Amino acid sequence: MNILVTGGAGFIGSNFIRYMLDTYSDMNIVNLDLLTYAGNFNSLADFENNPHHHFVRGSITNFELITHLLDVHNIEAIINFAAESHVDRSIVNPGAFVETNVQGTLTLLEAAKEKRVDRFIHISTDEVYGSLGKEGYFTENSQIAPNSPYAASKAASDLLVRSYYKTYGLDVIITRCSNNYGPYQFPEKLIPLLITNGIDGEILPVYGDGENIRDWIHVKDHCAAIDCVLRQGKKGEVYNIGGRTEMTNNEIAHLIMDRLNLPEDRLKYVEDRPGHDYRYAIDPMKVEKELGWRPVNTFAAGMKETVDWYLTNESWWRPLKEIHVGSKND
Ligand SMILES: NC(=O)c1ccc[n+]([C@@H]2O[C@H](COP(=O)([O-])OP(=O)(O)OC[C@H]3O[C@@H](n4cnc5c(N)ncnc54)[C@H](O)[C@@H]3O)[C@@H](O)[C@H]2O)c1
Repeated sequence: MNILVTGGAGFIGSNFIRYMLDTYSDMNIVNLDLLTYAGNFNSLADFENNPHHHFVRGSITNFELITHLLDVHNIEAIINFAAESHVDRSIVNPGAFVETNVQGTLTLLEAAKEKRVDRFIHISTDEVYGSLGKEGYFTENSQIAPNSPYAASKAASDLLVRSYYKTYGLDVIITRCSNNYGPYQFPEKLIPLLITNGIDGEILPVYGDGENIRDWIHVKDHCAAIDCVLRQGKKGEVYNIGGRTEMTNNEIAHLIMDRLNLPEDRLKYVEDRPGHDYRYAIDPMKVEKELGWRPVNTFAAGMKETVDWYLTNESWWRPLKEIHVGSKND
């Protein structure tokens, strides 16, 4: 199978390419990534020279480049990970999120339509559903109610993807996943930020009172779910993906502090993010029942492995700490 993966030098995209190359011997992957601050060529080091992986530096807003790649590589499916992905940055600079997440997705859809690509998988987020109270879960039928400019830009791109199915019959699928953790995540996001600050003897900053709840999934489980959706998903459908693991930010911070043997006074509560969503929780019943996918990594084992990965891969994250701009969570 020949696939175009966009954003394949980012956290989930690079893990997805690794997963696909490890799982299939007949997979040819074109990896289109602009290498923004979040894209990292070092994340591709172990498969950089694999003949089944072809890296192209470029933007998903470049229609000519995309149609050229679709033609030359005989692409059958597009998996769109490329995005501006950090909520804090979207509060400061929402325009960049509209440009990449909305305009970029529209450009990819146009190219897919023109070149009659067989399948278009759009990687989205549970954040498009807004915030939950203490009870309930997001299902595929939950109302779209994004609260941050990041979530709004993802929701807008989801609706464009849907419209290309309804209007043009393009074979599209949207996946909406909960918070991912695992190796190769940029250290501005909560878990790698706390781990790398912990290693460096710095404070571990947590927003507000630390009681916000996120539903966590190991990135490898997310990658397996996307593979499942790519092969067996029904066109025009939305699939929620989640690990059924709700944790408060306080619980996450304490887990990391325990693992690194840090004293309680290293945790510091900082001024909350404006409009900070209280709780996300995914009901993944549809992808479990209809496609037979199940997460296999427990949070305890996955977090132990993740902390150890950052301890042993300092050369990967150290240079990134320097371009990190002081954002804190998610
Ligand atoms: N991280 C999570 O917990 C999570 C959860 C659910 C959904 N998602 C979604 O999954 C996708 C990947 O998230 P991530 O955490 O890996 O993000 P990331 O920020 O680590 O990676 C994004 C990648 O996209 C690239 N990129 C940015 N603009 C581009 C452009 N115009 N053209 C080509 N490439 C461009 C960057 O260089 C980077 O490599 C995003 O669409 C995000 O919304 C993420």
